[in-house]
Amino acid sequence: MNNEYLAREITRLKRERGAVVLAHNYMDYGIQVIADFVGDSYDLALRAMETGAEVIVFAGVRFMAEQAKALNYNRVVLAPEPNAGCTIADVLDAETLRRVREAYPSTPVVLYVNSNADAKALADYIVTSSTAVRVVKRLRSDVVIFGPDNNLADYVAHMTGKKIIKVPPNGRCVVHGNYTTDMVSEARARYPRARVMIHPESPPEVSRLADFVGSTNQMIDYASRDSSMEFVVGTEVGMLNALKIKVPGKVFHPLSTGPYARCPFMAMITLEKVYRSLRDFVHEIEVPKSTAEAIKEAFERTRKLLEG
Ligand code: 13P
Ligand code: SF4
Repeated sequence: MNNEYLAREITRLKRERGAVVLAHNYMDYGIQVIADFVGDSYDLALRAMETGAEVIVFAGVRFMAEQAKALNYNRVVLAPEPNAGCTIADVLDAETLRRVREAYPSTPVVLYVNSNADAKALADYIVTSSTAVRVVKRLRSDVVIFGPDNNLADYVAHMTGKKIIKVPPNGRCVVHGNYTTDMVSEARARYPRARVMIHPESPPEVSRLADFVGSTNQMIDYASRDSSMEFVVGTEVGMLNALKIKVPGKVFHPLSTGPYARCPFMAMITLEKVYRSLRDFVHEIEVPKSTAEAIKEAFERTRKLLEG
Protein backbone atom coordinates (compact mmCIF):
# COMPACT_ATOMS: atom_id res chain seq x y z
CA MET A 1 0.00 0.00 0.00
CA ASN A 2 1.53 3.32 -0.97
CA ASN A 3 1.53 6.39 1.25
CA GLU A 4 -0.94 8.32 -0.90
CA TYR A 5 -3.51 5.55 -0.62
CA LEU A 6 -2.91 5.20 3.13
CA ALA A 7 -3.24 8.96 3.70
CA ARG A 8 -6.55 9.05 1.76
CA GLU A 9 -7.94 6.08 3.68
CA ILE A 10 -6.82 7.49 7.04
CA THR A 11 -8.60 10.78 6.29
CA ARG A 12 -11.80 8.88 5.38
CA LEU A 13 -11.61 6.60 8.45
CA LYS A 14 -10.93 9.51 10.81
CA ARG A 15 -14.20 11.13 9.66
CA GLU A 16 -16.14 7.88 9.78
CA ARG A 17 -14.97 7.00 13.30
CA GLY A 18 -14.91 10.50 14.80
CA ALA A 19 -11.20 10.08 15.49
CA VAL A 20 -8.19 12.37 15.77
CA VAL A 21 -4.58 11.38 15.23
CA LEU A 22 -2.07 12.87 17.69
CA ALA A 23 1.57 12.38 16.70
CA HIS A 24 4.91 13.00 18.37
CA ASN A 25 7.52 15.21 16.66
CA TYR A 26 9.67 12.11 15.98
CA MET A 27 7.13 10.39 13.74
CA ASP A 28 7.74 9.65 10.06
CA TYR A 29 6.96 12.51 7.67
CA GLY A 30 3.88 10.72 6.25
CA ILE A 31 2.36 10.39 9.74
CA GLN A 32 3.04 14.03 10.63
CA VAL A 33 1.27 15.15 7.45
CA ILE A 34 -1.98 13.26 8.20
CA ALA A 35 -1.97 13.99 11.96
CA ASP A 36 -4.44 16.44 13.47
CA PHE A 37 -1.81 17.60 15.92
CA VAL A 38 1.95 17.06 16.13
CA GLY A 39 3.91 18.08 19.21
CA ASP A 40 6.11 17.32 22.21
CA SER A 41 5.03 15.26 25.22
CA TYR A 42 3.52 18.20 27.10
CA ASP A 43 1.51 19.69 24.26
CA LEU A 44 0.29 16.25 23.21
CA ALA A 45 -1.01 15.63 26.74
CA LEU A 46 -2.81 19.00 26.70
CA ARG A 47 -4.29 18.32 23.25
CA ALA A 48 -5.46 14.90 24.39
CA MET A 49 -7.38 16.66 27.19
CA GLU A 50 -8.87 19.30 24.91
CA THR A 51 -10.08 17.13 22.06
CA GLY A 52 -13.79 16.49 21.73
CA ALA A 53 -13.18 13.39 19.58
CA GLU A 54 -14.48 10.03 20.77
CA VAL A 55 -11.38 8.20 19.56
CA ILE A 56 -7.71 9.21 19.84
CA VAL A 57 -5.13 7.39 17.74
CA PHE A 58 -1.79 8.05 19.41
CA ALA A 59 1.17 7.88 17.05
CA GLY A 60 3.89 7.71 19.67
CA VAL A 61 5.35 5.23 22.14
CA ARG A 62 3.26 3.39 24.71
CA PHE A 63 3.74 5.67 27.73
CA MET A 64 2.36 8.56 25.64
CA ALA A 65 -0.76 6.61 24.68
CA GLU A 66 -1.21 5.59 28.33
CA GLN A 67 -0.90 9.23 29.38
CA ALA A 68 -3.61 10.20 26.86
CA LYS A 69 -5.86 7.40 28.17
CA ALA A 70 -5.34 8.44 31.80
CA LEU A 71 -6.36 12.01 30.95
CA ASN A 72 -9.37 10.79 28.92
CA TYR A 73 -10.61 7.76 30.75
CA ASN A 74 -13.97 7.67 28.96
CA ARG A 75 -12.52 7.95 25.48
CA VAL A 76 -11.05 5.22 23.31
CA VAL A 77 -7.27 5.56 22.86
CA LEU A 78 -5.69 3.41 20.18
CA ALA A 79 -1.96 2.69 19.88
CA PRO A 80 -0.89 1.68 16.34
CA GLU A 81 1.99 -0.30 17.91
CA PRO A 82 1.37 -1.28 21.55
CA ASN A 83 4.83 -2.83 21.98
CA ALA A 84 6.67 0.43 21.43
CA GLY A 85 8.37 0.87 24.81
CA CYS A 86 10.98 3.37 26.01
CA THR A 87 14.29 2.63 27.74
CA ILE A 88 13.62 5.40 30.27
CA ALA A 89 10.05 4.40 31.13
CA ASP A 90 10.80 0.68 31.28
CA VAL A 91 13.57 1.04 33.89
CA LEU A 92 11.27 2.07 36.77
CA ASP A 93 8.73 -0.25 38.39
CA ALA A 94 6.06 0.83 40.84
CA GLU A 95 7.46 -1.25 43.71
CA THR A 96 10.86 0.49 43.57
CA LEU A 97 9.20 3.89 43.59
CA ARG A 98 6.90 2.88 46.46
CA ARG A 99 9.94 1.91 48.56
CA VAL A 100 11.71 5.23 47.88
CA ARG A 101 8.52 7.14 48.72
CA GLU A 102 8.31 5.33 52.03
CA ALA A 103 11.95 6.08 52.83
CA TYR A 104 11.39 9.84 52.26
CA PRO A 105 7.74 10.37 53.24
CA SER A 106 7.80 14.17 53.21
CA THR A 107 9.77 14.62 49.96
CA PRO A 108 7.79 15.40 46.79
CA VAL A 109 7.95 12.78 44.02
CA VAL A 110 8.40 14.27 40.56
CA LEU A 111 8.21 11.81 37.67
CA TYR A 112 9.15 12.38 34.08
CA VAL A 113 6.22 11.71 31.74
CA ASN A 114 8.40 8.94 30.23
CA SER A 115 7.19 6.49 32.89
CA ASN A 116 4.82 3.57 32.77
CA ALA A 117 1.31 4.12 34.17
CA ASP A 118 1.64 2.09 37.40
CA ALA A 119 4.74 4.06 38.48
CA LYS A 120 3.32 7.38 37.31
CA ALA A 121 0.23 6.86 39.47
CA LEU A 122 2.52 7.18 42.54
CA ALA A 123 3.87 10.61 41.53
CA ASP A 124 2.96 13.91 43.14
CA TYR A 125 3.96 15.82 39.99
CA ILE A 126 4.35 14.70 36.35
CA VAL A 127 6.78 16.72 34.26
CA THR A 128 8.03 16.74 30.69
CA SER A 129 11.32 17.96 29.24
CA SER A 130 9.70 21.38 28.72
CA THR A 131 8.36 21.74 32.28
CA ALA A 132 10.73 19.82 34.61
CA VAL A 133 12.98 22.75 35.60
CA ARG A 134 10.08 25.20 36.13
CA VAL A 135 8.14 22.69 38.24
CA VAL A 136 11.05 21.72 40.50
CA LYS A 137 11.99 25.43 40.94
CA ARG A 138 8.45 26.23 42.10
CA LEU A 139 8.26 23.43 44.68
CA ARG A 140 8.79 24.62 48.26
CA SER A 141 11.02 21.65 49.08
CA ASP A 142 14.80 21.87 48.53
CA VAL A 143 14.95 18.08 48.11
CA VAL A 144 13.02 16.26 45.40
CA ILE A 145 12.67 12.60 44.40
CA PHE A 146 13.03 12.54 40.61
CA GLY A 147 13.04 9.81 37.97
CA PRO A 148 13.42 7.83 35.88
CA ASP A 149 15.83 9.71 33.55
CA ASN A 150 19.28 10.15 35.05
CA ASN A 151 20.44 12.89 32.66
CA LEU A 152 17.28 14.96 33.01
CA ALA A 153 17.65 14.62 36.80
CA ASP A 154 21.20 16.04 36.56
CA TYR A 155 20.02 18.85 34.31
CA VAL A 156 17.20 19.74 36.74
CA ALA A 157 19.63 19.65 39.70
CA HIS A 158 22.03 21.96 37.86
CA MET A 159 19.31 24.43 36.81
CA THR A 160 17.52 24.57 40.17
CA GLY A 161 20.35 24.07 42.66
CA LYS A 162 18.12 21.56 44.53
CA LYS A 163 19.10 18.15 45.86
CA ILE A 164 17.72 15.39 43.67
CA ILE A 165 17.19 11.83 44.89
CA LYS A 166 17.25 9.78 41.69
CA VAL A 167 14.90 6.87 41.24
CA PRO A 168 16.40 4.74 39.77
CA PRO A 169 19.95 6.11 39.31
CA ASN A 170 20.42 4.65 35.81
CA GLY A 171 17.48 5.59 33.55
CA ARG A 172 18.81 6.47 30.11
CA CYS A 173 17.43 7.20 26.64
CA VAL A 174 18.83 4.92 23.94
CA VAL A 175 19.21 7.95 21.63
CA HIS A 176 20.18 10.97 23.77
CA GLY A 177 22.10 8.90 26.31
CA ASN A 178 24.61 8.02 23.58
CA TYR A 179 25.49 11.60 22.63
CA THR A 180 29.09 12.64 23.29
CA THR A 181 30.98 15.92 23.52
CA ASP A 182 33.00 14.80 20.46
CA MET A 183 29.80 14.75 18.40
CA VAL A 184 29.19 18.40 19.31
CA SER A 185 32.81 19.40 18.56
CA GLU A 186 32.68 17.64 15.17
CA ALA A 187 29.34 19.26 14.30
CA ARG A 188 30.66 22.72 15.26
CA ALA A 189 33.75 22.18 13.08
CA ARG A 190 31.64 21.00 10.13
CA TYR A 191 28.88 23.62 10.46
CA PRO A 192 30.57 26.68 12.02
CA ARG A 193 27.58 28.97 11.43
CA ALA A 194 25.02 26.62 12.95
CA ARG A 195 23.43 26.94 16.39
CA VAL A 196 23.50 23.71 18.40
CA MET A 197 20.25 22.54 20.06
CA ILE A 198 20.38 19.68 22.59
CA HIS A 199 17.61 17.72 24.32
CA PRO A 200 17.96 17.58 28.16
CA GLU A 201 17.89 13.74 28.14
CA SER A 202 21.50 14.06 26.91
CA PRO A 203 24.53 13.74 29.24
CA PRO A 204 25.13 17.01 31.18
CA GLU A 205 28.58 17.53 29.63
CA VAL A 206 26.90 17.50 26.17
CA SER A 207 24.06 19.85 27.20
CA ARG A 208 26.65 22.29 28.59
CA LEU A 209 28.07 22.74 25.06
CA ALA A 210 24.71 23.68 23.52
CA ASP A 211 23.46 27.07 22.39
CA PHE A 212 19.99 25.92 23.40
CA VAL A 213 18.68 23.11 25.62
CA GLY A 214 14.99 22.20 25.43
CA SER A 215 12.15 19.88 24.51
CA THR A 216 11.31 19.12 20.90
CA ASN A 217 8.65 21.86 20.73
CA GLN A 218 10.97 24.33 22.41
CA MET A 219 13.55 23.51 19.70
CA ILE A 220 10.96 24.33 17.02
CA ASP A 221 10.25 27.69 18.73
CA TYR A 222 13.95 28.46 19.14
CA ALA A 223 14.75 27.63 15.49
CA SER A 224 11.80 29.76 14.32
CA ARG A 225 12.76 32.79 16.43
CA ASP A 226 16.56 32.73 16.16
CA SER A 227 18.19 34.78 13.42
CA SER A 228 20.45 31.89 12.42
CA MET A 229 19.52 29.94 9.27
CA GLU A 230 21.32 26.75 10.23
CA PHE A 231 21.01 24.42 13.22
CA VAL A 232 22.49 21.19 14.56
CA VAL A 233 19.66 19.08 16.00
CA GLY A 234 20.64 17.17 19.12
CA THR A 235 17.64 14.91 19.34
CA GLU A 236 16.13 11.88 17.62
CA VAL A 237 16.34 12.18 13.81
CA GLY A 238 12.56 11.97 13.24
CA MET A 239 12.60 15.55 14.57
CA LEU A 240 13.97 16.68 11.21
CA ASN A 241 10.52 15.90 9.75
CA ALA A 242 8.83 18.23 12.24
CA LEU A 243 11.40 20.97 11.59
CA LYS A 244 11.01 20.62 7.81
CA ILE A 245 7.24 21.13 8.16
CA LYS A 246 7.22 23.82 10.87
CA VAL A 247 10.38 25.82 10.11
CA PRO A 248 10.60 25.80 6.30
CA GLY A 249 13.51 27.58 4.66
CA LYS A 250 16.07 26.89 7.40
CA VAL A 251 18.72 24.15 7.31
CA PHE A 252 18.95 21.38 9.92
CA HIS A 253 21.74 18.84 10.47
CA PRO A 254 21.35 15.85 12.80
CA LEU A 255 23.90 15.75 15.64
CA SER A 256 24.26 12.02 15.02
CA THR A 257 23.52 9.74 12.09
CA GLY A 258 24.99 6.70 13.87
CA PRO A 259 23.24 3.52 15.00
CA TYR A 260 21.40 5.28 17.86
CA ALA A 261 20.18 8.26 15.87
CA ARG A 262 16.69 6.82 15.39
CA CYS A 263 14.72 5.56 18.39
CA PRO A 264 13.90 1.90 17.66
CA PHE A 265 10.58 2.25 19.50
CA MET A 266 9.44 5.37 17.67
CA ALA A 267 10.47 3.67 14.40
CA MET A 268 8.01 0.82 15.10
CA ILE A 269 5.10 3.17 14.36
CA THR A 270 4.42 3.37 10.63
CA LEU A 271 1.75 5.01 8.47
CA GLU A 272 0.42 1.57 7.63
CA LYS A 273 0.01 0.74 11.34
CA VAL A 274 -1.84 4.04 11.89
CA TYR A 275 -4.18 3.03 9.03
CA ARG A 276 -4.71 -0.48 10.45
CA SER A 277 -5.30 0.98 13.88
CA LEU A 278 -8.20 3.06 12.53
CA ARG A 279 -9.50 0.35 10.19
CA ASP A 280 -9.50 -2.51 12.73
CA PHE A 281 -9.94 -0.38 15.86
CA VAL A 282 -6.72 -1.68 17.46
CA HIS A 283 -4.89 -1.65 19.86
CA GLU A 284 -7.04 -0.22 22.57
CA ILE A 285 -5.03 1.08 25.53
CA GLU A 286 -6.37 0.13 28.93
CA VAL A 287 -5.34 1.74 32.22
CA PRO A 288 -7.06 0.77 35.51
CA LYS A 289 -9.51 3.48 36.59
CA SER A 290 -7.77 4.20 39.92
CA THR A 291 -4.40 4.48 38.11
CA ALA A 292 -5.89 6.88 35.55
CA GLU A 293 -7.42 9.03 38.30
CA ALA A 294 -4.12 9.24 40.21
CA ILE A 295 -2.23 10.22 37.04
CA LYS A 296 -4.79 12.85 36.12
CA GLU A 297 -4.68 14.30 39.63
CA ALA A 298 -0.85 14.55 39.55
CA PHE A 299 -0.93 16.06 36.06
CA GLU A 300 -3.54 18.67 37.10
CA ARG A 301 -1.58 19.49 40.27
CA THR A 302 1.49 20.07 38.10
CA ARG A 303 -0.44 22.21 35.65
CA LYS A 304 -1.80 24.36 38.48
CA LEU A 305 1.72 24.83 39.84
CA LEU A 306 2.91 25.92 36.39
CA GLU A 307 0.02 28.27 35.79
CA GLY A 308 -0.21 29.66 39.34
P1 13P B 1 9.73 15.82 24.14
O1 13P B 1 9.13 15.79 22.76
O2 13P B 1 8.68 16.10 25.17
O3 13P B 1 10.87 16.75 24.20
O4 13P B 1 10.22 14.34 24.48
C1 13P B 1 11.20 13.71 23.80
C2 13P B 1 11.20 12.24 23.95
O5 13P B 1 12.22 11.64 23.98
C3 13P B 1 9.95 11.54 23.98
O6 13P B 1 10.19 10.21 23.98
FE1 SF4 C 1 12.33 6.73 25.08
FE2 SF4 C 1 14.49 7.92 24.08
FE3 SF4 C 1 12.88 6.60 22.47
FE4 SF4 C 1 12.06 8.91 23.56
S1 SF4 C 1 13.73 8.65 22.10
S2 SF4 C 1 10.89 7.01 23.40
S3 SF4 C 1 13.07 8.82 25.54
S4 SF4 C 1 14.07 5.71 24.16
